[in-house]
Amino acid sequence: MLRSFLRVPTARKVLTKAAPLPTVSLANHELLSLKQLSDLEKLQGHFDASMRDARDVYYEDQHRYRRYGVVFRENGLWRVVRRPTPFFQAARLNSYLGGVVREYPRLLDDCVLSPAFQDLCTQFTATFPHYDFGEVHVHMIRVVCEPQTNGTVVVPEGVHQDGFDAIAMACVRRHNIDGAKTSIHATRDTPPILEAVVQDGFVMCVDDKALWHYVSPMTRATDIADDVDAHRDIIILHSVHDASNAAA
Ligand SMILES: [Fe+2]
Repeated sequence: MLRSFLRVPTARKVLTKAAPLPTVSLANHELLSLKQLSDLEKLQGHFDASMRDARDVYYEDQHRYRRYGVVFRENGLWRVVRRPTPFFQAARLNSYLGGVVREYPRLLDDCVLSPAFQDLCTQFTATFPHYDFGEVHVHMIRVVCEPQTNGTVVVPEGVHQDGFDAIAMACVRRHNIDGAKTSIHATRDTPPILEAVVQDGFVMCVDDKALWHYVSPMTRATDIADDVDAHRDIIILHSVHDASNAAA
């Protein structure tokens, strides 16, 4: 059923703020949808604050910042769990950092409790009501595009699935960059069914069991000087680890 559904002609699209928001659905649930966040400016402020002192030490040859944490819903509010939450992906799912136990600075409470962050978590889980979202894993990532690079790789592992039930990719800010086009694929080896530059304030929600995804490299905007900062700020959400994601 999925295979025949995905054969429906789907022209490649580049989404802009003015474009209609696409939804790709099976009969009983969505596989892919694009949502818009409320209160983006405040979320951008929280993101800036969160990236201070959060250099990602696992990417030695790239300039990245990252926070990671797990949130759960209590009395209508998403909150950060207090237990240690190292992040792990099996090597077969992540050819770049799979098999490595990663420990990142925890999410900041002010950020998580902000209305835009709450909205993000709620919209993500509401998109996939058939999955169990006891907890949601959250990665806040800033990828810096430095002058000496000819194109910064955003997704070193190529077209991939993350090994969860569902994921969301929220663009908080594209700051002085070009590229970083998201593509969605029916399989790892087939052309995209959708290509989209996800703009500030938009969230692409993807059924990770059904679809594959990729983000193309990004470059610095052509009209900026070398001393001007250029980066892409995103928040990745995913459901709890699938059993098959455990270390083998
Ligand atoms: Fe991914």
